[in-house]
Amino acid sequence: MLQEDVQYYRSGIIVCYRKMCSIINLLLLSGIIHCVSSKQPNILLVVADDYGFHDIGYHNSEIKTPTLNRLAGEGVKLENYYVQPICTPTRSQLLSGRYQIHTGLQHGIIWWSQPNGLPLNSPTIADKLKEAGYSTHAVGKWHLGFYKKEYLPTSRGFDSFFGYLGGSEDYYAHTTCDSLIPNSCGYDLRDNLTVTNQTGRYSTHLFTERAVDIVKQHDQNKPLFLYLPYQAVHGPLQVPDSYVKQYDFIQDKNRRIYAGMVTCMDEGVKNVTDAFMEAGFWNNTIMIFTTDNGGQVLAGGNNWPLRGWKGSLWEGGMHGVGFVHGQALKNKGYVNDALIHVSDWYPTLVKLGGGNLNGTLPLDGFDQWATISEDAPAVRSELLHNIDPMTKLAGKRMFPDTFDNRIRAALRVGDWKILTGKPGDSHWVPPPHLQVDKNLTIPCTNSQDQNLWLFNIKDDPNERRELSAVYPDIVKSMLDRLDYYSNTAVPVRYPNPDPQANPNLHGGVWGPWE
Ligand SMILES: *[C@@H]1O[C@H](CO)[C@@H](O)[C@H](O)[C@H]1NC(C)=O
Ligand SMILES: *[C@@H]1O[C@H](CO)[C@@H](O)[C@H](O)[C@H]1NC(C)=O
Ligand SMILES: *[C@@H]1O[C@H](CO)[C@@H](O)[C@H](O)[C@H]1NC(C)=O
Ligand SMILES: *[C@@H]1O[C@H](CO)[C@@H](O)[C@H](O)[C@H]1NC(C)=O
Ligand SMILES: *[C@@H]1O[C@H](CO)[C@@H](O)[C@H](O)[C@H]1NC(C)=O
Repeated sequence: MLQEDVQYYRSGIIVCYRKMCSIINLLLLSGIIHCVSSKQPNILLVVADDYGFHDIGYHNSEIKTPTLNRLAGEGVKLENYYVQPICTPTRSQLLSGRYQIHTGLQHGIIWWSQPNGLPLNSPTIADKLKEAGYSTHAVGKWHLGFYKKEYLPTSRGFDSFFGYLGGSEDYYAHTTCDSLIPNSCGYDLRDNLTVTNQTGRYSTHLFTERAVDIVKQHDQNKPLFLYLPYQAVHGPLQVPDSYVKQYDFIQDKNRRIYAGMVTCMDEGVKNVTDAFMEAGFWNNTIMIFTTDNGGQVLAGGNNWPLRGWKGSLWEGGMHGVGFVHGQALKNKGYVNDALIHVSDWYPTLVKLGGGNLNGTLPLDGFDQWATISEDAPAVRSELLHNIDPMTKLAGKRMFPDTFDNRIRAALRVGDWKILTGKPGDSHWVPPPHLQVDKNLTIPCTNSQDQNLWLFNIKDDPNERRELSAVYPDIVKSMLDRLDYYSNTAVPVRYPNPDPQANPNLHGGVWGPWE
């Protein structure tokens, strides 16, 4: 009898083989008993918001992240890892395993007043892990739609939710305004469906405290999935002074406060991982740490030496910070160079958790566990960064018979990356106090009408040598590939703001209005 074939049932009395599971599936589905494989790991998925490539201690020793440095050092650092350029898109791919072109979320974030959300026909990673027997909890930022109750985290596979539904807000007051409709400001923080008044408490402390409570109260007969998307380190720039003191040497005020916010988040991760240790199940826990997009240079973040920043299809917008930690990793303490994307966590974690991918629409993510755990050959050779037909067209169309290069898009094939249309701000931005040669910060090739760029990212990770004129065949074949993807896209869903969303109509609180 193989150990991994044994299933323990919650009652602690019944022990059976995997095959028997289907026989008593009805009981399982009815929630009377739960099937728990002895191998199912707990999963801690930590997301940092707007966290730049140059903002973690192991990329820039000026920023103090002792916990993240240690965990990444003990685990696997992902250095060819990609996310999307902004919040909702990354989170939608993380939770659905599907590209934006397949969910209608190609363009922009979900604004508070937009009746929009991650489509309900895409089961979330939490749905699949819950189905596999996990306790599932979300603590922090949602940003995947809330205009109807069906889109809230507790309707999307999470047993509990503690956090805010929108994209950003004041860290202490937990209030925010939506610029799309006039005079629409409101409070946004909930415990499941109930609004909870936490005015005055800093969100990194609040979310850490809740995550620690969940770990402490967790019934270890079930595996735990804890999704912890911190508010940190997105703007507004706010943090208790005590975290900023050690950064007196940083003169730029935004950067100094931002650094303090990072260090506070690092302490939060320490508290949460300590709680796992104290509860005695850290050694059966897989932790993923990921940013959601590149740093926002206008709010303290930095991605040096990468080009561009948050919101752009340049590397600074998407080449993300990420690592994996856990006893289950076969190789530990190394840097992984395989192409890995945020959409890959869905199949990777669902399979690792003993779940199945039944009932999902075709996934765009790949199971990367062997690649990460054993440094096995890469399974992903291609990555569609995005195609956004709603952004204004740029310049002239080059070829009538393939992808229209006036459209904003980017695609990676092997080491090659193509960008088309208006990819966003293309400057290289060093951190405020770093003295660099001015020539290194000025885009070399940009004319106003340029709408196509080709780079070899392996040789030129900072996108300094534009090669489209040297390799016309590669350009053509990559445009053909974009054309292929474009033909699989669903229409963009980016509805007009709905005045009914205004918190003034709902007791001063953001929440479902339909
Ligand atoms: C949220 O829901 C979970 C699961 O039903 C429950 O355990 C928890 O007590 C709820 N929290 C609140 C504040 O109602
Ligand atoms: C929260 O409580 C404070 C007073 O303790 C009050 O001023 C504030 O209006 C309350 N906020 C909400 C959203 O209920
Ligand atoms: C971490 O725990 C310590 C000790 O309880 C506490 O003082 C600190 O505020 C916590 N940090 C965060 C970020 O929650
Ligand atoms: C994990 O920790 C528990 C409790 O401390 C211990 O019994 C078990 O042997 C450990 N497992 C591994 C694989 O280290
Ligand atoms: C998943 O689908 C396959 C093929 O349809 C089926 O054989 C299998 O039993 C399903 N698994 C579960 C857990 O539903």
